[in-house]
Amino acid sequence: MPGTVLVGCQFGDEGKGKVVDVLAETADLVVRFNGGANAGHTVQVGQEQFAFRLLPSGIIRPNVLNVIGNGVVVDPAQLLEEIDALRKRGHAVENLRLSDRAHVVMPWHKVIDELEENAKGSMAAGTTKRGIGPAFEDKAGRWGFRVADLLDPVVLRKKLESFLPVKHRIVLALGGSDVFVLERIVNQYTGFGGRLREFVADASVVVNEALAAGKSVLFEGAQGTHLCVDHGIYPYGTSSDCVAGAATVGAGVGPGAIQRVIGVVKGFTSRVGAGPSPTEVEGPTADFLRDRGGGEYGTVTRRPRRVGWLDLVMLRMSARVNGLTDLAVTKIDVLGGLETVQAAIAYDHYDKELREFPANTRVLGECSPTYDEFDGWKDLPPEEWRRIAAKGFGALPNEAQKDLRWIEKELGARLAFVSVGRGREDTIDLRKASALPPKAAVPAEVKPPRKVEATKSKRSRRG
Ligand code: GDP
Ligand code: IMO
Ligand code: MG
Repeated sequence: MPGTVLVGCQFGDEGKGKVVDVLAETADLVVRFNGGANAGHTVQVGQEQFAFRLLPSGIIRPNVLNVIGNGVVVDPAQLLEEIDALRKRGHAVENLRLSDRAHVVMPWHKVIDELEENAKGSMAAGTTKRGIGPAFEDKAGRWGFRVADLLDPVVLRKKLESFLPVKHRIVLALGGSDVFVLERIVNQYTGFGGRLREFVADASVVVNEALAAGKSVLFEGAQGTHLCVDHGIYPYGTSSDCVAGAATVGAGVGPGAIQRVIGVVKGFTSRVGAGPSPTEVEGPTADFLRDRGGGEYGTVTRRPRRVGWLDLVMLRMSARVNGLTDLAVTKIDVLGGLETVQAAIAYDHYDKELREFPANTRVLGECSPTYDEFDGWKDLPPEEWRRIAAKGFGALPNEAQKDLRWIEKELGARLAFVSVGRGREDTIDLRKASALPPKAAVPAEVKPPRKVEATKSKRSRRG
């Protein structure tokens, strides 16, 4: 699979880490290209669980080279903590490369993140407070520090002499009182550089050489399309581009390197942080979706995730802006036990049907989703889902098969993976012949889903 990008199609936490881990079995390289330690990518191997923030999700596979590309903002303390923790658990990290051009989270970034959030009032995104926004602001404003600077105390000091007084003024203007001592930062960050030196490389050279040698490279996106600074719900998202195109800029490869784009779609919607989420539900349905399958709580912040029905308006946009070729749909097990499953197919805005996702956040807030409704499927124990995964797509409950095929048709991308649990084994890979239903088991052509009347009160229908 030379040149595959994997991206989230919703508001992050779609299960990207899990799918990357599965795909890494046949990959030579896994490359992170955006975001930073705001990401939390969970990988479950047997009883062992990993939550990667900066390390690519292929790191525990010794034969896979894992690259942190220039598009990632790196908090060196966090990265070293992850490396140390992994080593303590008996995993080597010699298979890691860190771009010398990746930007670095500096001490004032986290302080400014907090201060800016407070200053923004109702426009605050509810960030992870990891300094992500300010680090990208500094990158674009040319106030930033790169990994290469940590290896050269002369450059580091020179930049600090110019930039630090300005950062102090900004912190003061935002109501902060933190003082950053130049000498201390030079010592601390050259210390980080010293420890990270063994991993530092020209990542673009590493990745391009691998592609030229015919190796398979998997670009691991962080966050999700609707958190993207360009295509997401602005300003309620993150500060980096989260769409497939960002893989080229964030890893230093040309667009021709990408042959396949896999969109990860969770079987329902979840969101941590602020901002509109048109299909959000509250009440018993929300409790059901949030608390099943280990719970919908932020991997990084542990905040409860807001939940709602699948939203095809959002997903059609994701298919378009990412150029999706393939889909990986997760958490089909979590939906088991619902009498009916709903999916928004359009929005109603004062009796006008909207099929495309609006850019105006006021309009978005006034929209009521128009739902299609499907028969639900039964609640099954995890062992049963695992047995189903081993048998393949045709073993899924018929209702789930119909729902998945409908999503595939609506999005115009091939259904490649279905996930029915946290583990590697809880995955159906439809590219494998065994995963395809035997002819007789293909469900008969199904009646179209029932339309649910549009309602102005989008939160109360199922909640
Ligand atoms: P990411 O940020 O997209 O990698 O997703 P997170 O790791 O933040 O959140 C996804 C959560 O769902 C993790 O706890 C995963 O272990 C879990 N998960 C992923 N796929 C499935 C699935 O198909 N079923 C269930 N029950 N859990 C899943
Ligand atoms: P993964 O890769 C879910 C959200 C935050 C907040 C907004 C801005 O695990 O899917 P930031 O700290 O980036 O400035 O916060 O974006 N957010 C995520 N939500 N999953 C993520 O990453 C996220 N990364 C950022 O909650 O609303
Ligand atoms: Mg996550």
